[in-house]
Formats: sequence, structure tokens, C-alpha cells
Amino acid sequence: MAALRPEHPPEFPYIGDISQYERIDKIGQGTFGEVFKARCKKTNDLVAMKLILMDQEKEGFPITALREIKILQELRHDNIVRLIEVCRSPMHDKTMRSKFFFIFEFCDHDLAGILRNIQIQFTLGHIKSILQQLLDGLYYIHKNHIIHRDIKSANILLTRNGVLKLADFGLAKVIAPPKPNQQNRYTCRVVTLWYRPPELLLGERDYGPAIDMWGVGCIMAEMWIRSPIMQGNSEQHQLELISHLCGSIEPSVWPGVQSLPYFTKLNLPKGEKRKVRERMQRCIQEPLALDLIEKLLTLDPKQRIDADAAVSSDFFYSEPPLMELKTLLSKYPSMFELKEVSRNIHNQRMKPQRPNVPNLPSEPIY
Ligand SMILES: Nc1ncnc2c1ncn2[C@@H]1O[C@H](COP(=O)(O)OP(=O)(O)O)[C@@H](O)[C@H]1O
Ligand SMILES: [Mg+2]
Repeated sequence: MAALRPEHPPEFPYIGDISQYERIDKIGQGTFGEVFKARCKKTNDLVAMKLILMDQEKEGFPITALREIKILQELRHDNIVRLIEVCRSPMHDKTMRSKFFFIFEFCDHDLAGILRNIQIQFTLGHIKSILQQLLDGLYYIHKNHIIHRDIKSANILLTRNGVLKLADFGLAKVIAPPKPNQQNRYTCRVVTLWYRPPELLLGERDYGPAIDMWGVGCIMAEMWIRSPIMQGNSEQHQLELISHLCGSIEPSVWPGVQSLPYFTKLNLPKGEKRKVRERMQRCIQEPLALDLIEKLLTLDPKQRIDADAAVSSDFFYSEPPLMELKTLLSKYPSMFELKEVSRNIHNQRMKPQRPNVPNLPSEPIY
């Protein structure tokens, strides 16, 4: 039976009309929805338009999208992507439904695309600038009791002016400040596998901001190695890769790990030595960078460095100084500008290419 048109169609006083924007191109197929590059007809400003998926919803607006909107509306920081507004399409005649979109400020690049583009060569100063901005953004959200829960290079955007914007708050969560004798029970099925910290893989449900810091460690190493450093194909495999690099997961280095739900259920490699420095110094010659990666990729989340301490680390205060990214990035077109460029980069993302840099090992190091 065809849906009846209500006498008074619902009004959405705080929601803009999507016809203010003119779609230019599809720029991303995220996990949860499509993203388009668009232009505001009034201001001529470029925006990114992310479709909010309603498929699973029998009734009403998805609660996950409401959470994302609430978090994004509260966050105001140079290194956090700015939500301009939420818009809707006209109601469909038959279904009586609208499509809803997030409208974000447009960024020309994402870090995954930049890292796969082997023409873009970073100096140590550029790497410092990217990491410092990422840590500034994370320090800000963590201070506001929000954890991102999906830190990875595809969720880190860069404007053509070299400003980094942390994006994709689809899995972000407001967390309760830790209370003695009270355990949180958050889901541990968050964070893309390759960037997932060992505590989540072992089923920890009472976790905190340290889960995002593990992701920063993976990304920091990725800045030199130019592809994700631990590409597991299952939770078990990911834990094996982590143990090969960071040493065996055992109570001597991580007190209390034995009480995590999957500690005895999974087959954890024994007798592995920690080899973070040894493995990475083939690509990363800077000792202060290796120090910071060591502290970020610490197995025990309680001992892992937090955003505040990381951003004050000597790595950022030693020679060479930070170098702004504007000059470097303005030499390259937006990864979304040409359809072909964007397609190539997205393909490379599936099959990362190893840059032809002499100090990189020819075979994968992990
Ligand atoms: N504001 C933006 N400017 C430019 N590109 C963006 C923007 N937001 C998202 N994208 C692109 O779209 C991709 C998917 O967006 P994201 O918000 O991460 O969605 P999902 O939750 O589906 O992963 C990103 O990896 C990035 O390439
Ligand atoms: Mg994403």
C-alpha cells in the first residue's frame, strides 16, 4: 500500500536544504556511507557531503548519527574537521523519506592517499608537523572525555594549507571519567584491525584514550614506512604481528593482562623479544622518533604515553624544527580533484606501493 502523504509534513527547523549545494564528484566510499565533493551555491565554498545511511532504520533517525552530530557540534578545534551543518533532501514522494547529509569543510587530501603517493616526499620537519597536529587534536578530544575509536590514516585529512583535521567521528564515544570500583562495559569491536591496540584484541571493555594512542604509534611509523605496519587478517593474526614486533604479551610487561577475556582463549606467541627499535631503525634513523614510537606502541595501555606527554616529547623540540606543509602540499593537486588521480590513489590504497627510497628494505619488514 502506498504511504499516505501526511496532512502536515514534518518540519526540520535546524536542518538545511541540500539544494544549497551542487554536487561535483564522489570522493569516498566510507564504511558507512558515500562522501561527495560539493560547492555551496551561495558562497562558492567547497564542502564534503557525507550521506548518512538510514538503511537499517525502520523508524526515525539513526542514534549513531545523532551521537556523531552531538560530538561534532561540541568540538571546536583547528585540528578537528568542522561540521558546517546537517542537510536533507526533499522527501521522496513514495517512501515519504528524506536523505540526510553531514556537510563538512572540504579538505584536499587524506593521509592514506598522501602516504600512497610516492611522489610526495616528507622531510623530518614535515613529519613532525603532521604528528604534532594529530596529537594536538587528540589531546583536545581526550581532555573533553571523547575517544575517537577509529584512528587510521584514512580518517586524517589535510587541507591544501597544510592544516591537519581529524575526521570520521562515526565510532567516537563520550567516556565516563574513571571511577574506583566501577568498570565500564564499552564494546571492544572498534578500531580498524590494523590499528587496533592489544587490549581491544584481548577483549578489554573498560578502556580509555590509550586506545587512540596505539593508532598514533602505527601512523607515526607509517609516515616513514609508507604503508600500514601491521596488516593482520584476523584478530589472532594481528596479535601475532603485535607480539613479533612488541614482544610477547605477558604479565611481566603488562601486569593484569592475564585477566582479560581472550588472554587464555587465543594462542599468543611466547618467548618473543621486543624488536621495535631494531626493526624500525632500518627505515627510521632519528633516535628521538624511535623513542616516541616505543612509548606509543607500549603493550600495557596504562604505561602507554598519553597525548599530553607525547606532544611535549623531545622529538618535537629537537633539530630540525617543524616545517609547515603548505608549500609541499600546494605542489600537488587535491587527491580528489581529478577523477583519475583519485581512482589511482584509492587503488594504491588497496595494494600499497613501496616507494623507491634507498634506506627502505626491499621486502616488507613485518
Ligand atoms: N571533509 C572532507 N574533505 C575531504 N574528503 C573527505 C572529507 N570527509 C571525508 N572525506 C573522504 O571520504 C572518506 C570517507 O569519509 P569518512 O568520514 O571517514 O567516512 P566513513 O565513516 O564511511 O569511513 C575519507 O577517508 C576521505 O577520503
Ligand atoms: Mg573513515
